[in-house]
Amino acid sequence: MSSTFDPRLFRQALGRFPTGVTIVTATAGPDPAQWVGVTANSFNSVSLEPPMVLWSLGRNARSFETFVEASHFAVHILAENQQGLSNRFARTVDDKFDGLTCATGAGGVPLLDDCVACLECRTAHVYEGGDHLIFVGEVLKYSHSDRVPLVFHEGRYAALEEHPELAWSGRSGRNAADRPFAQDHLHALVTQASQRLAGAFHRAVREAGLEVMEWRILAALAGGSGLSLEALADETVMKRSDVADLVDRMVGRGILQRTPDGPDQVHRVAIAPAGQAQLDDLSARAQAQEEALLQDCAPAERQALLSALRRLAGREAGSSA
Ligand SMILES: Cc1cc2nc3c(=O)[nH]c(=O)nc-3n(C[C@H](O)[C@H](O)[C@H](O)COP(=O)(O)O)c2cc1C
Repeated sequence: MSSTFDPRLFRQALGRFPTGVTIVTATAGPDPAQWVGVTANSFNSVSLEPPMVLWSLGRNARSFETFVEASHFAVHILAENQQGLSNRFARTVDDKFDGLTCATGAGGVPLLDDCVACLECRTAHVYEGGDHLIFVGEVLKYSHSDRVPLVFHEGRYAALEEHPELAWSGRSGRNAADRPFAQDHLHALVTQASQRLAGAFHRAVREAGLEVMEWRILAALAGGSGLSLEALADETVMKRSDVADLVDRMVGRGILQRTPDGPDQVHRVAIAPAGQAQLDDLSARAQAQEEALLQDCAPAERQALLSALRRLAGREAGSSA
């Protein structure tokens, strides 16, 4: 590939494809201390007859050798409330299985509880895939539940939601306002208002010269004395590699600065004065956008709207959760 091929832009392009999130587990032997597991969104279905799935693993993963040697692996499709588990298995740490009660499946692989689906596989083929290996597994056993899956898009977690046009306008694409049922349906109104607000906010972010992911980094660092890359990845629920790329770029543009290492020798980044100015500018723009959207509301109406929304969001005493 040409030398102008930019890995960061390539990753961004690939990140536009939304996926679910899985944890793939295997074991090097019968002792739970030999269990391994990694968060992976490279999972995909391959064949129905015989039933086969695939996923790919980076060669620099600590668990690499174990997966290469293992006769079996299990894929767990995560539920929307399993972000914490996903983050835990996305780190190279020793205690990934601490506190988890796991049954064992085909080939002695650890099985995680409460997932959307679990597929126990025999490693059928392993293919070279550049800096990754591609594992194709024959599915020996599977189970699934009606839990809602976790979604990953543009380097961050997202939630699955019904397409608003399908839900409220129908396949005909008829405007929601023309449908008597949808017209005053609270969910339809809140969804459409939320999309308008998010669109306006993201426009404000771009007008302030930032990408949405850069704004998330600035917001996570705002008012603090700096965070390690690991903590920043946790705060922004982004992949560490994406955070590292963005931080490099933002440091290059003078928006962030690296702080001197503390006693723990961990590198930290903090907002630079230029980044603070951009954050202040953005917050003024966002406020102006909000004003523009609410310009037709009288002050009393605005108060009533905010208080109703707080109650609906469960943020006010007396709200029904
Ligand atoms: C949402 C998400 C998806 C990921 N997908 C993959 C993947 O498909 N393949 C991979 O090798 N690493 C992937 N990773 C990174 C690994 O989970 C991470 O490198 C992990 O630390 C590897 O564990 P190990 O070093 O203990 O083996 C992903 C991380 C996240 C947060």
